[in-house]
Amino acid sequence: MTLRAVVSGVGHYLPRRVVENAEFEESLETSDEWIRARSGIERRHFAGEGETTATMAAAAARAALEMAGKEAGDVDAIIVATSTADLTFPSAATMVQSELGLRTGFAFDIQAVCAGFVFALANANALILSGQVKRVLVIGAETFSRIMDWTDRSTCVLFGDGAGALLLEAQEGDGTAADRGILSTDLNSDGTHRDLLYVDGGVSTGTTGYLRMQGNQVFRHAVEKLAATADTAMTRAGVTAADIDWVVPHQANIRIIQGTAKKLGVSMDNVVVTVQDHGNTSAASIPLALSVGHARGQIKQGDLIVTEAIGGGLAWGAVVLRW
Ligand code: UT7
Repeated sequence: MTLRAVVSGVGHYLPRRVVENAEFEESLETSDEWIRARSGIERRHFAGEGETTATMAAAAARAALEMAGKEAGDVDAIIVATSTADLTFPSAATMVQSELGLRTGFAFDIQAVCAGFVFALANANALILSGQVKRVLVIGAETFSRIMDWTDRSTCVLFGDGAGALLLEAQEGDGTAADRGILSTDLNSDGTHRDLLYVDGGVSTGTTGYLRMQGNQVFRHAVEKLAATADTAMTRAGVTAADIDWVVPHQANIRIIQGTAKKLGVSMDNVVVTVQDHGNTSAASIPLALSVGHARGQIKQGDLIVTEAIGGGLAWGAVVLRW
């Protein structure tokens, strides 16, 4: 028997305010046409009053618990992947713990920017496989609208806010690729690329700062690194692209999503795409896509999924799991 971290619930929260591309035409030299053609984005949600990284994360967590038929008290740990925690500290995860009325177990954040959810899944998996926890909420939640420079058209049209959550539970498997749960992980980072995507504020500046990105440089790294990490994870899981039911990629740019699928040899019919409706929600994009893909009836129990992401650092990685 082999211990596996199996998805028993999924949920998400999107802010009430929806902003169409056309809204940016009023304040910037940009167009709906440019944004759609270069990124595939049509609209995004922006957090408003009362909507914070922690409140959205808690709402997504509640939805995942409800689907699993579990209470907050059944959870041993909470991990939030985020680069936009509401305060420098405490962690968004402890705020979620408090929002859920939980005073037991432990909670912490993981910060690997857009790859954060993949890093969080890998860490949650390790906690489960080592026997330290039985049930863990893994959440991706972001309010990137609060680190946007609204005068920078090359970044502010690309990002959005939201949260998604999975409940992972320890279950016994056979140790084969037929098992439900996380089958393999692959994590990477290369800090020499720090200047390609960063926020120009923090404790060293005494400001929150704004996101800065050399988008076309990040783009150059993306397809190659995403396909390589997905390939590594699939090899570790003992599966091939032909076995994959769904690629659930980080939703940054439709051209990166298409290029990666092509390199992997997976049809776009087997890719969950939400970038048109959410924009790039950084660490929230994969759990949002998993939740929306499940709600659409695309992702079903037993499906083999590869999920991959790249972001600031650079940091990138992939996870293969059977739903
Ligand atoms: O999630 C974390 C990882 N991040 C990513 O994966 C993002 C990766 N990068 C991208 O998605 C794309 O590089 C972008 C969508 C950011 C940009 O697309 P691109 O095809 O790489 O365009 P570019 O940056 O090379 O810019 C092309 C032109 C430039 O004008 P010139 O220099 O050719 O005259 C930009 O100034 O488009 C201009 N431009 C815009 N024009 C209208 C940049 N932003 C805009 C805009 N509206 N919003």
